[in-house]
Amino acid sequence: MRLIFMGPPGAGKGTQAGRITAEYNYLHLSTGDILRAHRKKGTELGQQAQSYMAAGELVPDDLILKMVAAEFERPEIENGFILDGFPRTVAQADALDEVLKETGKTLDFVLVMDVPDEELVARLTARRTCRTCGRSYHLTFNPPKTPGVCDVDGGELYQRDDDKETTVRNRLAVYMRQTQPLIEHYTKQGLVRHIDGVGSVDEVFSRIRKVLESHSHTD
Ligand code: AP5
Repeated sequence: MRLIFMGPPGAGKGTQAGRITAEYNYLHLSTGDILRAHRKKGTELGQQAQSYMAAGELVPDDLILKMVAAEFERPEIENGFILDGFPRTVAQADALDEVLKETGKTLDFVLVMDVPDEELVARLTARRTCRTCGRSYHLTFNPPKTPGVCDVDGGELYQRDDDKETTVRNRLAVYMRQTQPLIEHYTKQGLVRHIDGVGSVDEVFSRIRKVLESHSHTD
């Protein structure tokens, strides 16, 4: 399947995309994770993206589109994919439409995860992220088995520099202004399914699985 996970910062896109891709063997393409990997390696792209990310602003479209084009060359993309955090602007959505048209591919769904703002702030300000694999935890809602250590690979957990409350609030405003309008873009294509993102990680996962399974039964 070819899916987009959309929703405000902290909606659970990364958490759920990680679970779905592990179960269904799709490629998980998180533009946030790819950008953080570039920052860690100190590449030119990582350096160019740094100030935008730290302020909670979007990285310019030309940089993102070049980066995503390289990801679309990966052979694993043929198994299906989840785009997490992309597209985020109308220009990115138009570019994606173009690439899909050129390669004869179509999207199955755009899953929009709905969570109220105050819950998003509570989730993000107590999030901890693995330095090695990027997996997200929450100090209260989704804690690691050993404090400060990733369950999967033993990596160190750290707080992202854009997870401080003032930056989180700016990211929410940026989402409303620049990304929310894309829901209309994909509604017109008949692709949007809303998912209630409130509840335990397992509850949200089973809601998403139901949507995916109902689709594969109608194929
Ligand atoms: P990115 O990394 O994509 O951040 P985001 O969209 O702001 O999303 P998050 O990773 O913050 O949230 P999420 O929805 O994945 O939630 P998660 O599963 O972690 O982007 C970062 C920056 O990179 C951007 O600000 C921008 O600068 C740049 N960027 C990236 N893509 C770009 C693009 N296309 N164009 C331009 N710039 C781009 O969960 C959050 C927390 O909640 C965790 O602690 C988790 O454990 C917890 N949680 C998850 N589910 C639940 C639940 N059901 N109940 C309780 N807690 C839960």
